[in-house]
Amino acid sequence: MKLLVYGAGVCGSLFAARMHEAGHDVSLLARGERLTALRRNGVQLAEEDGPAVKRVPVPVVEHPDSGYDLITVFIRTHQVDAVLESLAGVQGDVLFLLNWAAGPEALSAVIGHERLLLGFPTTGGTMDGDVVRYRKSNVITRRVAVPIGEPDGRTTPRLERIVEMFRTAGFNAKAEPQMDAWLRTHAAFEVPLGQAVHAAGGPVVLADDPDAVRGMLHLMRQNLAAMETPPVPRAFAALRALPQGLLVAVFRRFLKSPTAVHSGLDAPSPAAAAELRRLAEQLRAPAGGR
Ligand SMILES: NC(=O)c1ccc[n+]([C@@H]2O[C@H](COP(=O)([O-])OP(=O)(O)OC[C@H]3O[C@@H](n4cnc5c(N)ncnc54)[C@H](OP(=O)(O)O)[C@@H]3O)[C@@H](O)[C@H]2O)c1
Repeated sequence: MKLLVYGAGVCGSLFAARMHEAGHDVSLLARGERLTALRRNGVQLAEEDGPAVKRVPVPVVEHPDSGYDLITVFIRTHQVDAVLESLAGVQGDVLFLLNWAAGPEALSAVIGHERLLLGFPTTGGTMDGDVVRYRKSNVITRRVAVPIGEPDGRTTPRLERIVEMFRTAGFNAKAEPQMDAWLRTHAAFEVPLGQAVHAAGGPVVLADDPDAVRGMLHLMRQNLAAMETPPVPRAFAALRALPQGLLVAVFRRFLKSPTAVHSGLDAPSPAAAAELRRLAEQLRAPAGGR
């Protein structure tokens, strides 16, 4: 399968490098200074705070074209419109792996229903200059699979091929029959979390403000209650069912953990803030407007 990775930030660069190392025919699409840096040094990867930087010579391109079987898109929510337009005129299946709560129709209307798949990257990290500092996996994070799904929830041969391709590169991936509900559930959780962390000035400061954590939990519960479907995964229903005091204590502990600190929550970028704003708008839109 000839593969294009669209978006050379944290998730796209990491994915392209892993695919290249696994022997796949993969190119990475980048722009601006990132394009220049990738042409000069390849994808540079380092573990969280680790000193070793590895260079992976992934081929880099500047524009999409029709020569790919699959285009995987790793960009921010607010960057989707421009990328959609650039994909309308080229061929190939398109798998969006990002935060998206506006439903598949907003994407398929531009590129065609038959080309679209949705997913979410569950591995990540931060950019340190041109180096991608990826999160170390542990026994818990290894169990969290990258969900990938057809917009109508079917398990198709192409979906099975894509899930298998992810696995060949070491990604724990799985077919998800309710991808839209999965993405909305995630947004219902992530928007209040991200906005509360940004407002407080970091995860540890937020952890030390129980009132702010309670406010965040209240917004998560509101978002989940407003969903047209039960949460996916079902475990998120616990955010509405469990006592507030217990959940506030769990969140305060999480916010001080290395997982929160290395997730990029501690150093929000302008792109992350813009993405949260767009995602919040998508959550507020009425179902018919999605
Ligand atoms: N990072 C994580 O730990 C993590 C974990 C799980 C999920 N996610 C989600 O996964 C998605 C991708 O996140 P990310 O961290 O990889 O984002 P990111 O680091 O901001 O990378 C996005 C990349 O896409 C590029 N891009 C955007 N529009 C483009 C265009 N029109 N043409 C060419 N390149 C374009 C950006 O270039 P510019 O810099 O020039 O705009 C940037 O290099 C987001 O929805 C994020 O919330 C991230």
